[in-house]
Amino acid sequence: MAINTIGVLTSGGDAPGMNAAIRAVVRSAIASGMQVIGIRRGYNGLINGDTFELDARSVDGIQTRGGTMLYTARCMEFKTEAGVKKAADICRYMGIGGIVAIGGDGTFRGALDLSRSGICTVGIPATIDNDIACTRYSIGFDTACNTALESIDRLRDTMQSHERCSVVEVMGNKSGALAMYVGVASGATSILIPEKPVDLEKDVFERMRRGRIQHRNHHIVIVAEGVGHADDIAKAIHEATGVDTRVTVLGHVQRGGSPTARDRVAATRMGCRAVECLAAGLTNRVVCAHNDEIIDRDIEEALAMQPEFHEELYRVSQMTVL
Ligand code: F6P
Repeated sequence: MAINTIGVLTSGGDAPGMNAAIRAVVRSAIASGMQVIGIRRGYNGLINGDTFELDARSVDGIQTRGGTMLYTARCMEFKTEAGVKKAADICRYMGIGGIVAIGGDGTFRGALDLSRSGICTVGIPATIDNDIACTRYSIGFDTACNTALESIDRLRDTMQSHERCSVVEVMGNKSGALAMYVGVASGATSILIPEKPVDLEKDVFERMRRGRIQHRNHHIVIVAEGVGHADDIAKAIHEATGVDTRVTVLGHVQRGGSPTARDRVAATRMGCRAVECLAAGLTNRVVCAHNDEIIDRDIEEALAMQPEFHEELYRVSQMTVL
């Protein structure tokens, strides 16, 4: 049966570019003759019927803004059978035949459950962590990298003036993808990530000592949050090398800001693809970036995939330190 009305929601941690994805979903769905319902606060809004109609004008210009106009939340009730049933009943009551769920793996797990309850679902990957196994790229990563990079470049100026070491903690949850990107882009002395064993003596102290002999007077050490606290690393660096050390935890700054062109374009392509899937009567799909293309996969298969570590980028990061 053709879908006349679709719902769109954002769930989990926000990511710059979510708004651009919402806009693409709304505009492309309307262009295909569908009505679009915005659902507030992720699956919470679905369970509570917290919805409103989105027309073409309601998403004017939102692609320039970070965050999500639909708000976002992590919903515990939706993890229960009763919660999923309630959400599916609300969809049927409102005539919503398909849902586009924008977020990470947790969001896709919810979409899978909803699909099993008879509502068509498509997921769109959005997280600054870029840790979703089924897709090479998730919306928000590029903006977060650039935001972090801008701060690290500023830190380098003051570290150089005072001949200090800056230990910068970046987000990423259990993934080192964000740390590795900003580490390579900023020319960090060391990048500590959870995917590789951390050997402070070899990867940090020795490099700093070697640098000192070559008159390198300042250092940037990037620590992925999945490795541990930057404070502990900074203390160890100071004790081992005597270098004056300062800590910066970039935190949620990395999640905000106007999305980059790359994120806006990825979000727009993915949003349109999600609507194409629903219009074609597909369900239980997740939109993915694969090589230079946007494809879609079965959610269950996607969730079973293992994240691929970017070995070549890691190798490059090790080859360019001194
Ligand atoms: O998944 C995105 C992310 O920003 C992670 O990098 C981080 O570990 C986590 O969310 C922080 O979550 P919260 O916003 O709930 O503190």
